Amino acid sequence: MTSASINPLLNALEKSFSPSPLSQINDPLLQAHGIELWLKRDDLLHPIISGNKWRKLKYSLDNALKSGKDSLISMGGAHSNHLHALAYVGKTLNLNTHGIIRGEQPSTLTATLKDLQDWGMQLTYISRTEYRNLRHYHDPEDLPDSKPNEYWLPEGGASALALKGVAELVTEIDIPYDILSAPCGTGATLAGIINAAPKNTSVIGFAALKNAQFLNDNVRNLLPSSNINWQINQEYHFGGFAKTTPELMSFIKKFADSTGIILEPLYTGKMLFGLYDLINKNTFKPGLRIIAIHTGGLQGLRGFNE
Ligand SMILES: Cc1ncc(COP(=O)(O)O)c(C=O)c1O
Repeated sequence: MTSASINPLLNALEKSFSPSPLSQINDPLLQAHGIELWLKRDDLLHPIISGNKWRKLKYSLDNALKSGKDSLISMGGAHSNHLHALAYVGKTLNLNTHGIIRGEQPSTLTATLKDLQDWGMQLTYISRTEYRNLRHYHDPEDLPDSKPNEYWLPEGGASALALKGVAELVTEIDIPYDILSAPCGTGATLAGIINAAPKNTSVIGFAALKNAQFLNDNVRNLLPSSNINWQINQEYHFGGFAKTTPELMSFIKKFADSTGIILEPLYTGKMLFGLYDLINKNTFKPGLRIIAIHTGGLQGLRGFNE
């Protein structure tokens, strides 16, 4: 992992991480269409702060610590991978964390909420309308009525600083390639990938939500400017955020059986289903090499078992 000079606590934490290797996917479908597909295994970075979570949080946390903040506040749903990673970082680095949760407190806490609570995150439940309003606050000091020691992270950690951490996953890729692909929730990971992608490559995002045209604006707002050819495919949301179908679940199971790689159905499962389907429909020229990012989030799978 490459690191510009970051706070020593974060540096030490990052040094405990595992590498994120590239795994080539062998599948008769890929061979038949002459496409090489590789997964960048950010899911292996850390059991909890996995995937794009660390990439997006790293420089925001650094900024928070460098500005003398000791309290991190952010928002998410009852299964949020982002809050899960944030609460764990808070516990590990002895920082206060506060999670603002969408909707009423469930009578039985989800596995994610239970972890947040056990790791000392203060939880505040708010209505869906209030939650939507919080999406207007983007910068660390934006949140109204926040205290001087508090640092605000927008939903999903989708801040401008997230792009700098995401760029590191791109620069770690040490083989040539034609296309980079990632799932999209807020679009911050995709913006970071587009920003760091080498010229002559293209980038395809897969929306995890329905009616997610807003993702294009989110990416444009975060992205300084880019000559990279990028697009967000809107066809593989499977009915909406956190919605699945038997077809998707069966794809994920077959993928795990043949590759040994676990996908979760909210993000990476939808992206890979989409890539396989597009490959099957001859969307890509034979001879292309695609690198898809495994953005982790496997803790969220517990929500499906609950
Ligand atoms: C596992 C996983 N993959 C992908 C995403 C989407 O990332 P972004 O919100 O940066 O688009 C998320 C949400 O943050 C996620 O938890």
